[in-house]
Amino acid sequence: MDRLVIEGGNRLVGEVTVSGAKNAVLPLMAGALLTGEELTITNVPALRDIRTLSGLLTHLGVEVKAEGDRLCLRTPAVAEPVAPYEMVKTMRASILVLGPLLGRFKRAKVSLPGGCAIGARPVNLHIDGLRRMGATVEIEHGYIKAEAPTGLKGAKIYLEVPTVTGTENLMLAAVFASGETVIENAALEPEVAFLAHALNKMGAKISGAGTERLVIEGVDGLHAAEVEVIPDRVEAGTFMIASAMTVGNVLIKNCPMDHLEALVVKLREAGTVITTEGSGVRVVGKWPIRSVDLKTMAYPGFPTDMQAQMMAMMTIAGGLSVIRETVFENRFMHVGELRRMGANIAVDGRSAIIRGVSTLGGAPLMATDLRASASLVLAGLVAAGRTEVSRIYHLDRGYDGLEKKLIKLGAVIKRVHDKNE
Ligand code: UD1
Repeated sequence: MDRLVIEGGNRLVGEVTVSGAKNAVLPLMAGALLTGEELTITNVPALRDIRTLSGLLTHLGVEVKAEGDRLCLRTPAVAEPVAPYEMVKTMRASILVLGPLLGRFKRAKVSLPGGCAIGARPVNLHIDGLRRMGATVEIEHGYIKAEAPTGLKGAKIYLEVPTVTGTENLMLAAVFASGETVIENAALEPEVAFLAHALNKMGAKISGAGTERLVIEGVDGLHAAEVEVIPDRVEAGTFMIASAMTVGNVLIKNCPMDHLEALVVKLREAGTVITTEGSGVRVVGKWPIRSVDLKTMAYPGFPTDMQAQMMAMMTIAGGLSVIRETVFENRFMHVGELRRMGANIAVDGRSAIIRGVSTLGGAPLMATDLRASASLVLAGLVAAGRTEVSRIYHLDRGYDGLEKKLIKLGAVIKRVHDKNE
Protein backbone atom coordinates (compact mmCIF):
# COMPACT_ATOMS: atom_id res chain seq x y z
CA MET A 1 0.00 0.00 0.00
CA ASP A 2 1.30 3.44 -0.87
CA ARG A 3 1.44 6.50 1.35
CA LEU A 4 2.32 10.12 0.73
CA VAL A 5 4.92 11.90 2.80
CA ILE A 6 4.43 15.67 2.68
CA GLU A 7 6.75 18.36 4.03
CA GLY A 8 4.46 21.34 4.56
CA GLY A 9 5.05 25.04 4.21
CA ASN A 10 5.64 25.69 0.50
CA ARG A 11 3.64 28.15 -1.61
CA LEU A 12 2.32 26.63 -4.82
CA VAL A 13 3.37 28.58 -7.90
CA GLY A 14 3.17 27.72 -11.60
CA GLU A 15 0.82 26.06 -14.06
CA VAL A 16 -1.22 22.89 -13.86
CA THR A 17 -3.51 21.18 -16.38
CA VAL A 18 -6.75 19.55 -15.32
CA SER A 19 -7.44 15.98 -16.52
CA GLY A 20 -10.71 14.56 -17.86
CA ALA A 21 -13.60 14.06 -15.43
CA LYS A 22 -13.87 10.67 -13.77
CA ASN A 23 -17.60 11.07 -13.21
CA ALA A 24 -18.11 11.80 -16.90
CA VAL A 25 -16.04 8.86 -18.17
CA LEU A 26 -17.66 6.17 -16.01
CA PRO A 27 -21.27 6.52 -17.27
CA LEU A 28 -20.10 6.87 -20.86
CA MET A 29 -18.05 3.68 -20.54
CA ALA A 30 -21.25 1.95 -19.42
CA GLY A 31 -22.88 3.48 -22.51
CA ALA A 32 -20.53 1.40 -24.66
CA LEU A 33 -22.72 -1.58 -23.73
CA LEU A 34 -25.43 -0.08 -25.94
CA THR A 35 -23.71 -0.65 -29.29
CA GLY A 36 -21.78 -3.29 -31.20
CA GLU A 37 -19.81 -0.52 -32.89
CA GLU A 38 -16.71 1.15 -31.47
CA LEU A 39 -16.96 3.95 -28.93
CA THR A 40 -13.76 5.97 -28.61
CA ILE A 41 -13.36 8.16 -25.53
CA THR A 42 -10.49 10.68 -25.45
CA ASN A 43 -9.00 12.78 -22.63
CA VAL A 44 -9.49 9.82 -20.28
CA PRO A 45 -7.64 10.25 -16.95
CA ALA A 46 -5.44 7.46 -15.56
CA LEU A 47 -7.49 6.40 -12.54
CA ARG A 48 -8.15 3.29 -10.55
CA ASP A 49 -11.96 3.66 -10.87
CA ILE A 50 -11.64 3.61 -14.65
CA ARG A 51 -9.48 0.49 -14.53
CA THR A 52 -12.06 -1.07 -12.20
CA LEU A 53 -14.92 -0.42 -14.62
CA SER A 54 -12.76 -1.58 -17.56
CA GLY A 55 -12.31 -4.84 -15.65
CA LEU A 56 -16.05 -5.25 -15.15
CA LEU A 57 -16.80 -4.43 -18.79
CA THR A 58 -14.15 -6.89 -19.98
CA HIS A 59 -15.74 -9.52 -17.75
CA LEU A 60 -19.09 -8.81 -19.45
CA GLY A 61 -17.56 -9.30 -22.91
CA VAL A 62 -16.69 -5.74 -23.92
CA GLU A 63 -13.49 -5.37 -25.97
CA VAL A 64 -11.54 -2.67 -24.13
CA LYS A 65 -8.40 -1.07 -25.58
CA ALA A 66 -6.56 1.64 -23.66
CA GLU A 67 -3.87 3.70 -25.41
CA GLY A 68 -2.60 6.73 -23.51
CA ASP A 69 -5.62 8.89 -22.81
CA ARG A 70 -7.79 7.09 -25.40
CA LEU A 71 -10.15 4.32 -24.51
CA CYS A 72 -11.80 2.24 -27.27
CA LEU A 73 -14.74 0.04 -26.32
CA ARG A 74 -16.78 -2.36 -28.42
CA THR A 75 -19.56 -4.67 -27.32
CA PRO A 76 -20.46 -7.17 -30.06
CA ALA A 77 -22.32 -9.32 -27.52
CA VAL A 78 -22.54 -10.09 -23.85
CA ALA A 79 -22.30 -13.70 -22.72
CA GLU A 80 -23.98 -13.30 -19.34
CA PRO A 81 -25.29 -9.85 -18.31
CA VAL A 82 -24.10 -10.34 -14.73
CA ALA A 83 -22.03 -7.92 -12.66
CA PRO A 84 -20.68 -9.97 -9.75
CA TYR A 85 -20.33 -8.75 -6.18
CA GLU A 86 -16.51 -9.01 -6.20
CA MET A 87 -16.37 -6.45 -9.00
CA VAL A 88 -19.15 -4.11 -7.85
CA LYS A 89 -18.15 -3.87 -4.18
CA THR A 90 -14.96 -1.87 -4.87
CA MET A 91 -16.82 0.83 -6.80
CA ARG A 92 -20.44 1.90 -6.42
CA ALA A 93 -20.56 3.44 -9.90
CA SER A 94 -20.57 -0.14 -11.27
CA ILE A 95 -24.35 0.10 -10.83
CA LEU A 96 -24.26 2.12 -14.08
CA VAL A 97 -24.13 -1.11 -16.13
CA LEU A 98 -27.65 -2.03 -14.98
CA GLY A 99 -29.57 0.37 -17.24
CA PRO A 100 -27.70 -0.30 -20.50
CA LEU A 101 -27.59 -4.10 -19.99
CA LEU A 102 -31.33 -4.18 -19.42
CA GLY A 103 -32.00 -1.78 -22.28
CA ARG A 104 -30.04 -3.73 -24.89
CA PHE A 105 -30.04 -7.33 -23.65
CA LYS A 106 -33.42 -7.25 -21.89
CA ARG A 107 -32.08 -8.72 -18.67
CA ALA A 108 -29.39 -7.96 -16.13
CA LYS A 109 -28.17 -9.14 -12.77
CA VAL A 110 -26.08 -6.63 -10.88
CA SER A 111 -24.84 -6.91 -7.33
CA LEU A 112 -26.31 -4.36 -4.94
CA PRO A 113 -23.47 -1.96 -4.15
CA GLY A 114 -24.18 -1.86 -0.40
CA GLY A 115 -23.17 0.94 1.94
CA CYS A 116 -19.98 2.90 1.77
CA ALA A 117 -17.89 5.10 3.99
CA ILE A 118 -19.86 8.29 3.31
CA GLY A 119 -23.37 6.97 3.88
CA ALA A 120 -25.98 4.38 2.99
CA ARG A 121 -26.33 5.55 -0.64
CA PRO A 122 -29.38 3.58 -1.71
CA VAL A 123 -30.27 2.78 -5.35
CA ASN A 124 -34.06 2.62 -4.85
CA LEU A 125 -34.66 5.41 -7.38
CA HIS A 126 -32.72 3.53 -10.08
CA ILE A 127 -34.91 0.48 -9.45
CA ASP A 128 -38.21 2.39 -9.25
CA GLY A 129 -37.46 4.10 -12.57
CA LEU A 130 -36.72 0.80 -14.32
CA ARG A 131 -39.98 -0.63 -12.95
CA ARG A 132 -41.81 2.40 -14.37
CA MET A 133 -40.36 1.40 -17.75
CA GLY A 134 -41.96 -2.01 -17.41
CA ALA A 135 -39.07 -4.06 -16.04
CA THR A 136 -39.57 -6.73 -13.43
CA VAL A 137 -36.99 -6.09 -10.74
CA GLU A 138 -36.31 -8.31 -7.76
CA ILE A 139 -33.67 -8.31 -5.09
CA GLU A 140 -32.31 -11.82 -4.65
CA HIS A 141 -29.31 -12.90 -2.60
CA GLY A 142 -27.76 -9.42 -2.70
CA TYR A 143 -28.35 -9.00 -6.42
CA ILE A 144 -30.68 -6.78 -8.42
CA LYS A 145 -32.31 -9.08 -10.95
CA ALA A 146 -34.06 -7.16 -13.72
CA GLU A 147 -35.92 -8.41 -16.77
CA ALA A 148 -37.89 -6.86 -19.61
CA PRO A 149 -38.40 -9.73 -22.10
CA THR A 150 -40.28 -7.58 -24.61
CA GLY A 151 -38.06 -4.55 -24.10
CA LEU A 152 -38.43 -1.44 -21.94
CA LYS A 153 -41.27 0.98 -22.57
CA GLY A 154 -41.16 4.75 -22.46
CA ALA A 155 -42.52 6.15 -19.19
CA LYS A 156 -42.81 9.28 -17.10
CA ILE A 157 -40.39 9.11 -14.19
CA TYR A 158 -40.22 11.59 -11.35
CA LEU A 159 -37.09 11.43 -9.22
CA GLU A 160 -37.75 12.22 -5.58
CA VAL A 161 -34.09 13.22 -5.23
CA PRO A 162 -32.11 14.40 -8.28
CA THR A 163 -29.69 11.46 -8.08
CA VAL A 164 -26.70 11.72 -10.42
CA THR A 165 -25.99 8.09 -11.27
CA GLY A 166 -29.73 7.37 -11.01
CA THR A 167 -30.49 9.90 -13.75
CA GLU A 168 -27.63 8.48 -15.84
CA ASN A 169 -28.69 4.87 -15.36
CA LEU A 170 -32.26 5.62 -16.38
CA MET A 171 -31.16 7.69 -19.36
CA LEU A 172 -28.97 4.79 -20.52
CA ALA A 173 -31.87 2.36 -20.07
CA ALA A 174 -34.31 4.62 -21.92
CA VAL A 175 -32.23 4.96 -25.10
CA PHE A 176 -33.91 1.84 -26.58
CA ALA A 177 -37.23 2.03 -24.70
CA SER A 178 -40.19 2.21 -27.07
CA GLY A 179 -41.78 5.64 -27.30
CA GLU A 180 -40.89 8.54 -25.06
CA THR A 181 -39.34 8.54 -21.60
CA VAL A 182 -39.48 11.69 -19.51
CA ILE A 183 -37.25 12.05 -16.44
CA GLU A 184 -38.49 14.85 -14.18
CA ASN A 185 -36.30 16.37 -11.45
CA ALA A 186 -33.26 15.01 -13.26
CA ALA A 187 -29.82 15.78 -11.85
CA LEU A 188 -28.32 18.96 -13.32
CA GLU A 189 -24.66 17.99 -12.90
CA PRO A 190 -22.52 18.79 -15.98
CA GLU A 191 -21.55 15.11 -16.22
CA VAL A 192 -25.20 14.19 -16.81
CA ALA A 193 -25.49 16.72 -19.64
CA PHE A 194 -22.19 15.40 -21.04
CA LEU A 195 -23.61 11.87 -21.12
CA ALA A 196 -26.73 13.07 -22.96
CA HIS A 197 -24.63 14.86 -25.59
CA ALA A 198 -22.32 11.85 -25.99
CA LEU A 199 -25.23 9.42 -26.41
CA ASN A 200 -26.78 11.77 -28.99
CA LYS A 201 -23.48 11.65 -30.89
CA MET A 202 -23.93 7.86 -30.94
CA GLY A 203 -27.45 8.23 -32.38
CA ALA A 204 -29.68 8.58 -29.31
CA LYS A 205 -32.47 11.16 -29.21
CA ILE A 206 -32.22 12.96 -25.88
CA SER A 207 -33.36 16.52 -25.33
CA GLY A 208 -33.29 18.75 -22.28
CA ALA A 209 -29.65 18.02 -21.39
CA GLY A 210 -28.61 20.22 -18.49
CA THR A 211 -32.22 20.84 -17.40
CA GLU A 212 -34.38 19.07 -14.84
CA ARG A 213 -36.60 17.57 -17.56
CA LEU A 214 -34.95 15.03 -19.84
CA VAL A 215 -36.92 13.64 -22.76
CA ILE A 216 -35.61 10.47 -24.39
CA GLU A 217 -37.13 9.29 -27.65
CA GLY A 218 -36.44 5.56 -28.07
CA VAL A 219 -34.26 4.55 -31.06
CA ASP A 220 -33.47 1.11 -32.56
CA GLY A 221 -29.69 1.21 -32.38
CA LEU A 222 -26.60 3.29 -31.68
CA HIS A 223 -23.45 3.62 -33.77
CA ALA A 224 -19.74 4.38 -33.44
CA ALA A 225 -18.60 7.75 -32.15
CA GLU A 226 -15.59 9.56 -30.74
CA VAL A 227 -16.16 11.69 -27.66
CA GLU A 228 -13.79 13.96 -25.72
CA VAL A 229 -14.30 14.01 -21.97
CA ILE A 230 -14.98 17.33 -20.19
CA PRO A 231 -12.42 18.51 -17.61
CA ASP A 232 -12.79 17.35 -14.02
CA ARG A 233 -14.39 20.15 -11.99
CA VAL A 234 -13.51 18.49 -8.68
CA GLU A 235 -9.84 18.17 -9.60
CA ALA A 236 -9.83 21.79 -10.82
CA GLY A 237 -11.53 22.91 -7.61
CA THR A 238 -9.00 21.00 -5.51
CA PHE A 239 -6.15 22.89 -7.22
CA MET A 240 -7.99 26.18 -6.67
CA ILE A 241 -8.17 25.47 -2.94
CA ALA A 242 -4.55 24.27 -2.88
CA SER A 243 -3.40 27.57 -4.36
CA ALA A 244 -5.68 29.60 -2.08
CA MET A 245 -4.54 27.80 1.09
CA THR A 246 -0.83 28.01 0.38
CA VAL A 247 -1.08 31.72 -0.54
CA GLY A 248 0.00 30.51 -3.94
CA ASN A 249 -0.27 31.78 -7.49
CA VAL A 250 -1.37 29.04 -9.87
CA LEU A 251 -2.65 29.14 -13.43
CA ILE A 252 -5.10 26.27 -13.87
CA LYS A 253 -5.39 25.22 -17.50
CA ASN A 254 -8.34 23.37 -18.98
CA CYS A 255 -10.35 24.64 -16.01
CA PRO A 256 -14.16 24.29 -16.35
CA MET A 257 -14.90 27.68 -14.75
CA ASP A 258 -18.59 27.51 -15.78
CA HIS A 259 -19.02 24.37 -13.66
CA LEU A 260 -17.36 25.84 -10.58
CA GLU A 261 -19.47 28.86 -9.79
CA ALA A 262 -20.52 27.86 -6.26
CA LEU A 263 -16.90 27.20 -5.27
CA VAL A 264 -15.60 30.38 -6.92
CA VAL A 265 -18.14 32.50 -5.01
CA LYS A 266 -17.03 30.95 -1.71
CA LEU A 267 -13.31 31.27 -2.45
CA ARG A 268 -13.74 34.94 -3.38
CA GLU A 269 -15.65 35.45 -0.14
CA ALA A 270 -12.63 33.93 1.62
CA GLY A 271 -10.39 36.53 -0.03
CA THR A 272 -8.92 34.47 -2.89
CA VAL A 273 -8.38 36.35 -6.15
CA ILE A 274 -9.63 34.39 -9.16
CA THR A 275 -9.33 35.68 -12.72
CA THR A 276 -9.66 34.09 -16.13
CA GLU A 277 -6.54 34.25 -18.24
CA GLY A 278 -6.94 33.02 -21.79
CA SER A 279 -8.39 29.53 -21.50
CA GLY A 280 -7.05 29.17 -17.97
CA VAL A 281 -7.93 30.47 -14.53
CA ARG A 282 -5.43 32.18 -12.23
CA VAL A 283 -5.91 31.61 -8.51
CA VAL A 284 -3.98 33.84 -6.10
CA GLY A 285 -4.25 33.09 -2.40
CA LYS A 286 -4.42 35.99 0.09
CA TRP A 287 -3.57 36.03 3.79
CA PRO A 288 -5.38 36.02 6.14
CA ILE A 289 -8.02 33.65 4.79
CA ARG A 290 -11.50 34.84 5.74
CA SER A 291 -13.82 32.21 7.17
CA VAL A 292 -16.97 31.38 5.17
CA ASP A 293 -20.07 29.29 5.81
CA LEU A 294 -21.41 26.86 3.25
CA LYS A 295 -23.98 24.18 2.63
CA THR A 296 -23.52 21.33 0.15
CA MET A 297 -26.32 20.79 -2.34
CA ALA A 298 -27.02 19.16 -5.68
CA TYR A 299 -25.59 21.06 -8.68
CA PRO A 300 -25.48 24.03 -9.17
CA GLY A 301 -25.18 24.21 -5.36
CA PHE A 302 -21.87 23.78 -3.55
CA PRO A 303 -20.63 20.25 -4.43
CA THR A 304 -20.39 17.67 -1.70
CA ASP A 305 -17.27 16.44 -3.50
CA MET A 306 -15.54 19.74 -2.55
CA GLN A 307 -16.71 19.89 1.06
CA ALA A 308 -13.73 18.14 2.68
CA GLN A 309 -11.19 20.25 0.78
CA MET A 310 -12.96 23.49 1.73
CA MET A 311 -13.04 22.34 5.35
CA ALA A 312 -9.26 21.85 5.26
CA MET A 313 -8.96 25.47 4.12
CA MET A 314 -11.29 26.72 6.85
CA THR A 315 -9.14 25.10 9.55
CA ILE A 316 -6.59 27.90 9.05
CA ALA A 317 -9.05 30.75 8.34
CA GLY A 318 -9.41 33.72 10.69
CA GLY A 319 -12.70 33.05 12.45
CA LEU A 320 -15.60 30.68 12.66
CA SER A 321 -17.02 28.70 9.77
CA VAL A 322 -20.07 26.45 9.62
CA ILE A 323 -20.17 23.74 6.96
CA ARG A 324 -23.42 21.86 6.50
CA GLU A 325 -23.47 18.60 4.55
CA THR A 326 -26.95 17.97 3.14
CA VAL A 327 -26.21 15.39 0.42
CA PHE A 328 -24.63 12.48 2.30
CA GLU A 329 -25.26 11.66 5.94
CA ASN A 330 -21.79 10.58 6.98
CA ARG A 331 -19.34 12.69 5.09
CA PHE A 332 -17.21 14.10 7.91
CA MET A 333 -14.71 11.24 8.10
CA HIS A 334 -11.86 13.70 7.55
CA VAL A 335 -12.72 15.65 10.72
CA GLY A 336 -11.01 13.23 13.09
CA GLU A 337 -7.84 13.26 11.00
CA LEU A 338 -7.80 17.07 10.65
CA ARG A 339 -8.17 17.31 14.43
CA ARG A 340 -5.04 15.19 14.79
CA MET A 341 -3.24 18.03 13.00
CA GLY A 342 -4.52 20.55 15.54
CA ALA A 343 -7.67 21.70 13.75
CA ASN A 344 -10.50 22.90 15.98
CA ILE A 345 -13.67 21.30 14.61
CA ALA A 346 -16.90 20.39 16.37
CA VAL A 347 -19.51 18.24 14.65
CA ASP A 348 -23.19 18.60 15.41
CA GLY A 349 -25.24 16.23 13.26
CA ARG A 350 -24.77 17.30 9.68
CA SER A 351 -22.95 20.54 10.59
CA ALA A 352 -19.29 21.08 11.30
CA ILE A 353 -18.21 24.17 13.19
CA ILE A 354 -14.63 25.11 12.44
CA ARG A 355 -12.67 27.63 14.50
CA GLY A 356 -9.61 28.67 12.52
CA VAL A 357 -6.23 28.00 14.16
CA SER A 358 -3.01 29.85 13.38
CA THR A 359 -1.19 26.75 12.25
CA LEU A 360 -1.65 23.01 11.68
CA GLY A 361 0.99 20.49 12.69
CA GLY A 362 2.09 17.58 10.48
CA ALA A 363 0.92 14.15 11.65
CA PRO A 364 0.46 10.57 10.44
CA LEU A 365 -3.02 10.34 8.90
CA MET A 366 -5.28 7.75 7.36
CA ALA A 367 -7.32 8.43 4.23
CA THR A 368 -10.91 7.20 4.50
CA ASP A 369 -12.53 8.07 1.18
CA LEU A 370 -11.66 9.77 -2.05
CA ARG A 371 -12.35 13.44 -1.33
CA ALA A 372 -11.39 13.13 2.34
CA SER A 373 -7.95 11.99 1.15
CA ALA A 374 -7.58 15.13 -0.93
CA SER A 375 -8.44 17.30 2.07
CA LEU A 376 -5.71 15.62 4.13
CA VAL A 377 -3.13 16.23 1.40
CA LEU A 378 -4.18 19.91 1.27
CA ALA A 379 -3.85 20.20 5.05
CA GLY A 380 -0.42 18.56 4.80
CA LEU A 381 0.70 21.22 2.32
CA VAL A 382 0.23 24.00 4.90
CA ALA A 383 1.08 22.10 8.10
CA ALA A 384 4.32 22.68 9.95
CA GLY A 385 6.59 19.66 9.56
CA ARG A 386 5.86 16.24 8.09
CA THR A 387 2.47 14.71 7.29
CA GLU A 388 2.10 11.12 6.20
CA VAL A 389 -1.14 10.14 4.51
CA SER A 390 -1.63 6.38 4.30
CA ARG A 391 -4.24 4.35 2.38
CA ILE A 392 -3.94 6.67 -0.59
CA TYR A 393 -5.47 4.07 -2.88
CA HIS A 394 -8.59 6.17 -2.23
CA LEU A 395 -6.83 9.14 -3.81
CA ASP A 396 -5.73 7.08 -6.80
CA ARG A 397 -9.37 6.21 -7.48
CA GLY A 398 -10.17 9.75 -8.54
CA TYR A 399 -7.10 11.98 -8.99
CA ASP A 400 -4.80 11.51 -11.97
CA GLY A 401 -1.27 12.01 -10.59
CA LEU A 402 -2.25 14.50 -7.89
CA GLU A 403 1.10 14.44 -6.11
CA LYS A 404 3.06 14.73 -9.36
CA LYS A 405 1.09 17.83 -10.32
CA LEU A 406 1.53 19.32 -6.83
CA ILE A 407 5.28 18.62 -6.91
CA LYS A 408 5.53 20.54 -10.20
CA LEU A 409 3.93 23.48 -8.41
CA GLY A 410 6.57 23.41 -5.67
CA ALA A 411 5.12 21.05 -3.08
CA VAL A 412 7.47 18.63 -1.33
CA ILE A 413 5.80 15.22 -1.52
CA LYS A 414 7.15 11.69 -1.77
CA ARG A 415 5.15 8.55 -2.57
CA VAL A 416 6.38 5.66 -0.46
CA HIS A 417 5.54 2.08 -1.24
CA ASP A 418 5.32 -0.18 1.81
CA LYS A 419 6.04 -3.74 0.77
CA ASN A 420 5.15 -5.29 4.09
CA GLU A 421 1.58 -4.01 4.40
C1 UD1 B 1 -22.52 10.95 -7.69
C2 UD1 B 1 -21.02 11.11 -7.87
C3 UD1 B 1 -20.36 11.44 -6.53
C4 UD1 B 1 -21.02 12.65 -5.88
C5 UD1 B 1 -22.55 12.48 -5.84
C6 UD1 B 1 -23.27 13.73 -5.37
C7 UD1 B 1 -20.52 9.63 -9.73
C8 UD1 B 1 -19.91 8.35 -10.17
N1 UD1 B 1 -20.48 9.86 -8.40
O1 UD1 B 1 -22.73 9.86 -6.80
O2 UD1 B 1 -18.97 11.73 -6.77
O3 UD1 B 1 -20.56 12.80 -4.57
O4 UD1 B 1 -23.06 12.15 -7.15
O5 UD1 B 1 -22.92 14.81 -6.15
O6 UD1 B 1 -20.98 10.41 -10.53
N2 UD1 B 1 -30.29 8.67 -3.32
C9 UD1 B 1 -31.45 8.00 -2.96
N3 UD1 B 1 -31.89 6.98 -3.74
C10 UD1 B 1 -31.25 6.60 -4.87
C11 UD1 B 1 -30.09 7.29 -5.25
C12 UD1 B 1 -29.63 8.32 -4.45
O7 UD1 B 1 -32.03 8.31 -1.93
O8 UD1 B 1 -31.71 5.67 -5.54
C13 UD1 B 1 -29.77 9.79 -2.48
C14 UD1 B 1 -28.40 9.48 -1.86
O9 UD1 B 1 -28.50 8.75 -0.68
C15 UD1 B 1 -27.85 10.87 -1.64
C16 UD1 B 1 -28.45 11.68 -2.78
O10 UD1 B 1 -29.53 10.90 -3.30
O11 UD1 B 1 -28.31 11.39 -0.42
C17 UD1 B 1 -27.50 12.00 -3.91
O12 UD1 B 1 -26.84 10.83 -4.33
P1 UD1 B 1 -26.48 10.53 -5.85
O13 UD1 B 1 -26.65 11.77 -6.66
O14 UD1 B 1 -27.20 9.31 -6.29
O15 UD1 B 1 -24.93 10.20 -5.76
P2 UD1 B 1 -24.18 9.19 -6.70
O16 UD1 B 1 -24.81 9.21 -8.04
O17 UD1 B 1 -23.98 7.89 -6.01
